[in-house]
Amino acid sequence: MALATLKQVLEMASATLTAVPMFNIDNIEIPDAVVPVAEKYDCPLIFGVGQGAIKAGKLYYLRDVVYRIADQTSLPIVLHLDHGASLEQAVECMDAGFTSVMYDGSHGPFEENIAVSKKVVEYAHARGISVEAELGAIGGVEDGVSSDRKNLVDVEEVKEFISRVEVDALAIGIGNAHGLYKAAPNLDFDRLRQCQALNPPPLVLHGGSGIPKDMIQKAIELGIRKINVATELRNAFMEGLEKSVHKRDIYAMYQAGAIEAAALAETKIRMFKRLDEI
Ligand code: G3H
Ligand code: ZN
Repeated sequence: MALATLKQVLEMASATLTAVPMFNIDNIEIPDAVVPVAEKYDCPLIFGVGQGAIKAGKLYYLRDVVYRIADQTSLPIVLHLDHGASLEQAVECMDAGFTSVMYDGSHGPFEENIAVSKKVVEYAHARGISVEAELGAIGGVEDGVSSDRKNLVDVEEVKEFISRVEVDALAIGIGNAHGLYKAAPNLDFDRLRQCQALNPPPLVLHGGSGIPKDMIQKAIELGIRKINVATELRNAFMEGLEKSVHKRDIYAMYQAGAIEAAALAETKIRMFKRLDEI
């Protein structure tokens, strides 16, 4: 099946008041393990290629993996650039067949974020590709890139940004952070409520690893339509490898990693589709 765009799967999420998972991918095994689980729940999937994978030279390999996977499922699958670092990087991914790109200008000046996001949107929308932007730099460490700025998004900036840039999704900082939380996350739901009241494009929650179910549920109720998960998924896969390394059988290890990754993905999919709500 042809790949879907971010816009398309977020429209589905908005229609069902749920959220779509974005799972970062770093190898063949993880996406390959996640798809059968998503099929069980008829859950669209966004596969994100992040800066770590790109720095490791995996961009085109992972592009091919996702296209191959999409050929073998009827699920809507999005190939997404995560935390795009520049217009040039976003263009390279779009030219490589990505159906969605994020430009993360949240760490720089607001006007620069606006200017570059506009250029990314212009290039993307001319090709039917979706764009995610970010306001309020997400704290924590992502792919080795750390940002200790735990900026809470400025609601006035959201109002200004969405009036000037036509993005398909907007990531906001509301106390979420990349990586595992040192203490229970303290999400600013009031701020999320204020952002949603501006009738923005679908809102995105980064740093999905470690956010408890009740907070995820509330965030979705308040308008979050895309939730990114990387750390817990990678850790699950690595735990599977660790548990089976004694077998000295590489495919037994991959299988053990895949089982753990699939189990983690299932918990997130059930949460994001608001099954067994509390
Ligand atoms: O962009 C990727 C996500 O924000 C990953 O966050 O590693 O905390 O799940 P996480
Ligand atoms: Zn992120």
